[in-house]
Amino acid sequence: MNKMIQTVVLGLFTASLAHAEPSSQVAWTPDKLNFIKQANSKSGKELAAQCAGCHGDNGVSPSPDFPSLAGQLATYTYKQLQDYKNGQRTHTLMTSIAAGLSDQDMADMAAWYSSLPPPRNKADKKDLEIAERLVFEGDGRRTLPPCYTCHGSKGQGEKMDIPALAGQQAEYFTATLIAYRNSERHNDIYSRMRILSQQLSDAEIQELAQYYQQLQ
Ligand code: HEC
Ligand code: HEC
Repeated sequence: MNKMIQTVVLGLFTASLAHAEPSSQVAWTPDKLNFIKQANSKSGKELAAQCAGCHGDNGVSPSPDFPSLAGQLATYTYKQLQDYKNGQRTHTLMTSIAAGLSDQDMADMAAWYSSLPPPRNKADKKDLEIAERLVFEGDGRRTLPPCYTCHGSKGQGEKMDIPALAGQQAEYFTATLIAYRNSERHNDIYSRMRILSQQLSDAEIQELAQYYQQLQ
């Protein structure tokens, strides 16, 4: 084989290997869904005392950089904790925290957080036309389906892995969309959020973050 072809073939092989890396090790089976459904939210509440400093006593985060977890779908929270533990999603703090949690701990805390009322923001509502258009119409000139088709018209999320966004901290929201955009966050199955975020400008991301933060 000539050297150039060899290099190309090797390159393709490595690229396909990188592609084969799964974005998550969580596979949704009836057993897994039942396991999460039957979790013990009482013990989840006790376990979550160690999380309160950052995520708030009732899952409403006191800091713009920490996501709120209250009212989140249990399946989504469970998947994120697994992804941190298995290395599919990385973050200095959360990776080390998730490393010490069992499957049962994750399911129990996910159940507790999902039972809490979602965050509400009292700030005055602003008109956010660019965001509203992206949420309800998307953009046919780009590959941008409307956000509501997946995340719901009230940002309430959709089973199994589509998170609720209503009331989420805007700074966290912006940071995580930018992390998807540059593939630093790559635990979205089928690259759904990576593909979408790569087509959004910084200004659009910031407005979308404001839009969802003020949504109740
Ligand atoms: C020292 C602060 C800190 C503590 C303690 C902490 N977290 Fe976090 N958590 C964060 C930060 C910061 C992020 C955002 C990380 C990122 O961008 O990936 C996060 C993200 C998460 C997410 C992903 C949320 C989403 O919307 O995708 C979950 C779930 C989570 N934490 C659960 C927990 C649980 C459960 C505990 C306790 C066992 C805990 N955290 C303790 C700071 C903390
Ligand atoms: C095709 C379905 C789909 C569409 C359309 C979609 N999303 Fe998502 N989104 C997802 C999924 C699935 C996840 C969770 C992926 C994972 O496990 O990390 C997600 C995650 C997110 C997160 C991370 C939430 C968190 O707590 O960390 C944000 C923010 C987000 N989406 C915003 C948007 C916005 C804004 C739009 C519209 C421009 C949009 N999404 C359109 C499926 C979708």
